[in-house]
Amino acid sequence: MVGNLNNVIVTAVDDSRVSGAQAIAERLVLPFAAEPNESGLVLRLAAERLELVQIGPDAPGPVYVDFIEGAMGHRRRFGGGRGQLVAKAVGVKKDKIPTVIDATAGLGRDAFVLAKLGCQVQMIERSPVVAELLSDGMRRAEKDDEVREIVARMSLVVADACRYLAELGEAERPDVVYVDPMHPERTKAAMVKKEMQLFRALVGADEDDATLLQAALNAARKRVVVKRPRKSEAIPGPKPSLVYEGKSTRFDVYLISA
Ligand SMILES: C[S@@+](CC[C@H](N)C(=O)[O-])C[C@H]1O[C@@H](n2cnc3c(N)ncnc32)[C@H](O)[C@@H]1O
Repeated sequence: MVGNLNNVIVTAVDDSRVSGAQAIAERLVLPFAAEPNESGLVLRLAAERLELVQIGPDAPGPVYVDFIEGAMGHRRRFGGGRGQLVAKAVGVKKDKIPTVIDATAGLGRDAFVLAKLGCQVQMIERSPVVAELLSDGMRRAEKDDEVREIVARMSLVVADACRYLAELGEAERPDVVYVDPMHPERTKAAMVKKEMQLFRALVGADEDDATLLQAALNAARKRVVVKRPRKSEAIPGPKPSLVYEGKSTRFDVYLISA
């Protein structure tokens, strides 16, 4: 499911951004309001970026994509290389960098980590609002001298990954399909940040993860990697061949036999 897009309103932070915001509203077929006054989710074009915000009391901070500063910037500078669990799970080696389809792109954080490791990453995202946030983050990253080279290895398609994967031609099949669906039971504690609750309000739980796993298994040449909260059940289907466990996250790896 793609959450409740009916509730999303597009707005602009000031007059200078109104035409840009209206163009986004038109593209996503969402209403534009200069001053949204009902409580709900708002896609706001600010001076430097596009952000998802909640209107109303106790609203969490905005959600936006930033590959240059913040947590992603920190991870880029200090976050280890091939020693990272995700690198092992995906099978990144010195002389062998796999191609990846990230079937659940979200805000592109995992895709960015994989692209930083050298992988070519084709991202698929079915929520047009999330994809818009991601494209905005990529556009800004392309202007940064350090990050440009990393995002050049990332590209984005707005589509349902089950369908996209099923329609791949033989030559387009990636080495790895990476899957990180929104877990239905992800608790408040596991979600840590309030901002992520906002993200979840937008996309909802990804109840069709078993179908996605099957599509991924049919499409990958070498392996499917599923990211899970550490203690949660595996996606229903075949048993993973390998499991990499971190502090809060687990990677279930399904090796494809030749
Ligand atoms: C938990 S988030 C992924 C977070 C991402 N790994 C990151 O690092 O930012 C899950 C995302 O996958 C998307 N999604 C889930 N199932 C999908 C499918 N079948 N096709 C495309 N996108 C999907 C959801 O809309 C949501 O944005």
